[in-house]
Amino acid sequence: MTSRAAPKPAPNLKFAHIGLVVSEIDVMTRFYVDVLGFTITDSGVFGEMRVAFLSRDPEEHHQIVLTTGRPADLPANTINPDFGPVIQQISFKMGSLADLRDMKGRLEQGGATRLTSASHGNAWSLYAHDPEDNYIEFYVDTDWYASQPFYVPLDLTRSDEDIVEETRALCEASPGFKPIGRWRADIARAMAPPFQK
Ligand SMILES: [Fe+2]
Repeated sequence: MTSRAAPKPAPNLKFAHIGLVVSEIDVMTRFYVDVLGFTITDSGVFGEMRVAFLSRDPEEHHQIVLTTGRPADLPANTINPDFGPVIQQISFKMGSLADLRDMKGRLEQGGATRLTSASHGNAWSLYAHDPEDNYIEFYVDTDWYASQPFYVPLDLTRSDEDIVEETRALCEASPGFKPIGRWRADIARAMAPPFQK
């Protein structure tokens, strides 16, 4: 009788940052600092390229790195013009619906364009485009899981109570509905072990 060893799990790994190639690094840096609250942790020149490292987490030297060299005429996404041609979205987690409303005002004041908002059942999302048209998302987790994709327009002028109740009802009507704690426990069994320092 032969026994097969369990497959070795993937090594310890955590997604940590993204790099964006930009045209106007000063404009983009100011937007991420002034509107989103990032800190410039380092910046400089590397050969022909300017570089800016941005973070909002002292555990991470950079969460976003901006480098110059973006081609002038990038093609558009062929299906959804809101999305980038390669990077579909860059997403930031927030703590409350009040934070989402605060960010909406900051984005409007700070030069972001084409703002929209949506409920995904498991999250409430605010979308916009940064000064170089990258699609950025700000979201708040809900307490429920609903099968994805799930997209219902969201009116952030409504009260928290109204939004919560409507989303809860929509989730409960979803075929995949689960409390989010249950979903997390279930999906954890399918994943490699979480990152350990
Ligand atoms: Fe998203």
